[in-house]
Parts: sequence; C-alpha cells; structure tokens
Amino acid sequence: MKYPPLFSLEGKTAVITGGSGVLGRIMALAMAEAGARVAVLGRSKEKLQAVVKEIEEAGSEGLALAADVTETTQLKEVHAQLLQVFGTPDILVNAAGGNISGATIGPNQSILELSEADLRKVVELNYIGTVLPTQVFGQSMMKRKKGNIINISSLAAQRPLTRVMGYASSKAAIDNYTKWLAVELAQKYGEEMRVNAIAPGFFLTEQNRTLLTEEDGSLSARGKQIIDHTPFGRFGNPEDLSGTLIWLCSDASRFVTGTIIPVDGGFNAYSGV
Ligand SMILES: NC(=O)c1ccc[n+]([C@@H]2O[C@H](COP(=O)([O-])OP(=O)(O)OC[C@H]3O[C@@H](n4cnc5c(N)ncnc54)[C@H](O)[C@@H]3O)[C@@H](O)[C@H]2O)c1
Repeated sequence: MKYPPLFSLEGKTAVITGGSGVLGRIMALAMAEAGARVAVLGRSKEKLQAVVKEIEEAGSEGLALAADVTETTQLKEVHAQLLQVFGTPDILVNAAGGNISGATIGPNQSILELSEADLRKVVELNYIGTVLPTQVFGQSMMKRKKGNIINISSLAAQRPLTRVMGYASSKAAIDNYTKWLAVELAQKYGEEMRVNAIAPGFFLTEQNRTLLTEEDGSLSARGKQIIDHTPFGRFGNPEDLSGTLIWLCSDASRFVTGTIIPVDGGFNAYSGV
C-alpha cells in the first residue's frame, strides 16, 4: 500500500473540475494513486479522456465529465452521469479557474481602463465557477451528510499582486466562501462535511510562462521579483501540491475545516526583509 490508512482515499469517489489543466491533472492523478476513483470535469472531452487513461494506468477508475463550471444545466447533467457510474461523490476539488488577461492592469494603465467585460468573466470563472459545482455536487453530499470540498484559491487572494486585479479579487472571494461554507455545512450537516482551500504560490505553467520567463527560459523581471520574494528560491512543481491535497481529502485532516493552506515555498510568510 502506497499510503498509510489515515491518508488513504481507497473506496472514495472524487470529482475535480479543471481536471485536465496543468495542476488539475496532477491532482487527479495524486488522488487516483491514493486510491480514489476520479471523475475529471472540464470543457474538452478529448483532453479529459487522456487524463482518464492515465488514471486507469495508475490502477484506478476514471470518468470524463464534459461541462462548463459556469453552466448549472451542464453541471446537473454530468452530476447525474456521475451518480449512475460511480455514485455519490465523497470529494469535490474546484480547480477550474485562471486569469483573464483583459482583467489585468498593464504597467502603463490605470484602474480606469479595466475592462468591465473581462472583469465579469474572471469573476464568473473563478468565483461563480466554484460556487455552482459546490451546489450541484454538494447536493448529494448534503443528503448523506458526508462530503469533502477543496477549493483551489491562490496566494494572490491574501497578498494582492500588482496588475492581476480581477483574478486576485475573485480568488479572495473564494477564501471568504471557503470559510463561510465550512461553517454553514458543519452547523447544518455535522462534522463529516468539510470545506478547505489550497492557495498555491507560483507554479510555472503555460498560463503564466510568458509573464514569468523570457523566450530563452531565463527569468523575466516579474519572475525574478517573485523568486527573490520566495524563501525557497524557486517556482512550485505541480507535484508539490499532492501531499497537501491528499491530507485535506483524507481522514488525516478530519478536524480541519474552513482553512486556506498556502503551498508557496514561504512566499506568503516573507515580508521581503
Ligand atoms: N499555475 C499557478 O501558478 C497557479 C497559482 C495559484 C492558483 N492557481 C489556480 O490553480 C487552478 C488550476 O490552474 P492551472 O495552472 O492548472 O491552469 P490551467 O489553465 O492549466 O487549468 C485550468 C483548467 O480549467 C479549465 N477551465 C477553464 N474554464 C473552465 C470552465 N468554464 N469550465 C470548465 N473548465 C474550465 C481549463 O480548460 C483547464 O483545464 C486554477 O484555479 C488557478 O487559478 C494556479
């Protein structure tokens, strides 16, 4: 057995939104390795099926759920599919999200030039796209009074970063929602309904590669600023999230709810001095 019993996800069903994304895929595989059946949710069936194949190669069962996290009707359809194939979910990881470039303020711009349309899009994707899956997949959890929700926030929520205004505010809303929902579900359904969040630091992915590095792979000015502010002196590898995720998903964290755990090489703790 790869995981000691306290950390094992054997017999559990997990759903992860954004499950074919850079971090989502690694988190899906980590849960599969810990023993969970994993349903990966995203918009491209083809990409999801590739992850399902990897989950099966890791010795577990996978399921591709094609849906948009901002569309309740689509979420309800795939929830019904999940109930038929795997049954009630035990774990929901809300990993779909990301920045929308128009919701950032460039170095020569001001808040007055922020695109209202792109601000709405970034809030819709990150915040609404987290709340709706918790309603749809949470429904069957609440019925059973048992379920574990993990939201993927960002350290930009607690320490607003320059430029990425819309993204940082929408992730801050997720932190607040995580705490609110943890209290709400514990009070109404008891201690087997838990809600926590992970706040990843900087992970070099396709979304931010051009922001953090130059074409030759060296650090951009912003990339250097970040590394200088990270006590570990490096960007995260997606696998750095796995241990924290499995701990939060498993009984090892059974008295933990309403927390936001930074996985950031110390960025959040460092004052810069
Ligand atoms: N990469 C980082 O450094 C970093 C840091 C902090 C937080 N995060 C957060 O981690 C999560 C995963 O990020 P990532 O770096 O893997 O990004 P990614 O773009 O690789 O993955 C995001 C996934 O979400 C999917 N998605 C986007 N919109 C969707 C929608 N409307 N419906 C369904 N699926 C949708 C995308 O197709 C993609 O598969 C995001 O919430 C992101 O904000 C990332």
